[in-house]
Amino acid sequence: MQINGSTQLIGFFGSTYKTSKMYAMYNAAIKALGLNCIYIPFCVVDLQKAVEGVRNLGVAAIGVTIPYKVEIIKYLDELDSNAARIGAVNVVINRDGRLLGCNTDGEGAIQALKEKVPVTGRDVCVLGAGGAARAIAFALCDEGCNVTILNRTERAAQDLAQDIGENARAGGFAMLPEVLGDDTIIINTTPVGMSGSGQERLSLVPANLLKPGMAVMDIVTNPRETTLIADAVGKGCAVVYGYRMLLWQGVNKFELYTGVKPPVAIMEQAMEDSAKAG
Ligand code: ATR
Repeated sequence: MQINGSTQLIGFFGSTYKTSKMYAMYNAAIKALGLNCIYIPFCVVDLQKAVEGVRNLGVAAIGVTIPYKVEIIKYLDELDSNAARIGAVNVVINRDGRLLGCNTDGEGAIQALKEKVPVTGRDVCVLGAGGAARAIAFALCDEGCNVTILNRTERAAQDLAQDIGENARAGGFAMLPEVLGDDTIIINTTPVGMSGSGQERLSLVPANLLKPGMAVMDIVTNPRETTLIADAVGKGCAVVYGYRMLLWQGVNKFELYTGVKPPVAIMEQAMEDSAKAG
């Protein structure tokens, strides 16, 4: 690409800035569209000062991830209604010096699910009640789903269910047998099953509870085939891999960053290539 005086910077704030696989995906899209911008990592030392840097350097947008998704809110000027209800942002857009926070996680999860199964009006069991669960649960609620939130800390599940409203209920994992119907969609939003979590071989759902009419999604991306997903494949369930949500939340972010329709196939290919490169 040709860097010149009009090149726009899109940056990334997150503890995973060294290992993120998203640089290839966004820069491939930028190249394909011939946009005069570049997506680069930032090493955040002090978040407040980093956000001031975004304002003072005219950085066009920022992708935000752990551990800044909630903390960054207090330094922004505005949240869109979705980020406000979730209470977390994964994108900041610089609109002439005013910083707007948005969140594409929930929408990304719904798009990933819809590649495999119908979603509207379904019964969905969400495992976990953290930031990702909040984003996904609100988006499911928009789709008219009946959402049950099960969490290790039941209080957090109850709080989230209350925020979502009358279509949501809550409980602990012991409720799984009574919550799961023949065609429930199950979504794991916890780190259980994730490489490096110390629980990579575990699943929160006993395999004997899985039925062929269910759809099972795990937002864990490493490994792609978690124990939950492997069990679901074995039982004939529809499965949705975490990397599909990662792709779609990124596609949606790209549109917010640039205001341009994303070239999805190119982004998908770049993501696959960078996953293979390791
Ligand atoms: P994220 O932004 O990825 O959602 P988070 O907000 O820290 O991360 O939320 C993590 C979720 O995973 C929480 O629901 C957490 O349960 P608690 O509320 O009980 O802490 C859940 N979680 C984390 N480790 C877990 C484990 N070992 N078993 C079950 N649930 C776990």
